[in-house]
Amino acid sequence: MATAATDARAIAPVDVSREALYVENRWHEPFAQLRREMPVSWTPESPYGPYWSVVTHELVSKVELDTETFSSSWERGNITIADPAPETNLPNFIAADPPLHTAQRKVIQPAFAPSQMRIREQQVRERCAYLLDKVPVGETFDWVTEVSIPQTMGMLCIIFGMDPDAESEDLKRWSDFASGVGENSQTEEYRAEWLTQMHAMLARFDQLLDERRQAEPGDDLLSRMVHSEAMGNLLPMERLANLALLLVGGNDTTRNSASAIVRGFDMYPEQLDVLYGDASLIPNAAQEVIRWQSPVLHMRRTTTRDTELAGQHIPEGEKVVLWYISANRDEAVFEDADRFDVARANARRHLAFGHGIHRCVGARLAEIQIGTLIEEIVGRGWRIVPQGEPTRQASPFLRGFTSMPVKIERRG
Ligand code: HEM
Repeated sequence: MATAATDARAIAPVDVSREALYVENRWHEPFAQLRREMPVSWTPESPYGPYWSVVTHELVSKVELDTETFSSSWERGNITIADPAPETNLPNFIAADPPLHTAQRKVIQPAFAPSQMRIREQQVRERCAYLLDKVPVGETFDWVTEVSIPQTMGMLCIIFGMDPDAESEDLKRWSDFASGVGENSQTEEYRAEWLTQMHAMLARFDQLLDERRQAEPGDDLLSRMVHSEAMGNLLPMERLANLALLLVGGNDTTRNSASAIVRGFDMYPEQLDVLYGDASLIPNAAQEVIRWQSPVLHMRRTTTRDTELAGQHIPEGEKVVLWYISANRDEAVFEDADRFDVARANARRHLAFGHGIHRCVGARLAEIQIGTLIEEIVGRGWRIVPQGEPTRQASPFLRGFTSMPVKIERRG
């Protein structure tokens, strides 16, 4: 491990941005090696260009707190390892630094305040029960399409004031296109379709925003946006960018945590028995699912000046990738970190929601959704049995499942 800053860069032995590591679930050892040998390392060549990797809990937290040196700004390259194409580089508040970030986040945050979350908790429970009542117990079905996606999309419809039954499909399609932002491998056809879909999304949201504009200010997300100084008069592209952030931020992340519940209890079946014995552990189990899955693999920053981190000299303008997936498996913080343990005493120290000023604004809503889903499974006396291997998302940014065949059995 390097101890003093030098120009000699610690070269990573493996390029951890390779999609194959995630599709084939082979990322554990490369990150364990980096944590042991080089907590800050340099990858000179990758599909996304050269980048630095930060892999320990301590250093990821440290970088997140130093927003003056490590910028999130879309003007410097945005927040994922992939540089977005210029026309899809959207200026929203996750990709902004203070003071713009501070002003816009302040508008959104109260819509996720505890008083609002108490209302949402009831709605989440109703939606979850409705979906689980419909799944065919005893037959094989896809957990991703029947539970994880409709649960998450339904909740997003509710927070935007849309009808989940009528509009979930549109919302999902827009979200999928919006999260395509930042991929290098976009074809001309894809870009044309992306533009069409984003126009349609903005047109629908503008209708919803106009309704709120004409009504008295309310507590919901869109009303807060439209009646605020910082977000009431955004340009169309900025409006689209911020709506896409709320949509994408809450979509794949929560969806993939909902799928990870099945995976965790399949690999560690005794952990479900622990919850059958003590349901008061369910909120902690939700934290552990999110830690163990780490649905956002990384966030990226760009240096605004020359700096030093763990003995490595990092010049201005370089890409620094914060690997949450690795920080959440850091043995210095989480004992036996690969293990899924619903009673883990410090599960909530995970960094899956990030840290510092950009920490996920929807964290509580996500925890409620995951906790409620676990409660409903336990309440129904179910055991969810995978029918073959799930298929995994090919992405160095989002860690998730594209399908997960399962069968529900009643606990004997
Ligand atoms: C920010 C993860 C659910 C909306 C973030 C960040 C992460 C994250 C890693 C960036 C933190 C940083 O840079 O330090 C997750 C995970 C979720 C989840 C793992 C589910 C398990 C949600 C939900 C919503 C949401 C349900 C809203 C409906 C946002 C927004 C931001 C954000 C708006 C930007 C915050 C800012 O820049 O100040 N999330 N998220 N997320 N998330 Fe989430």
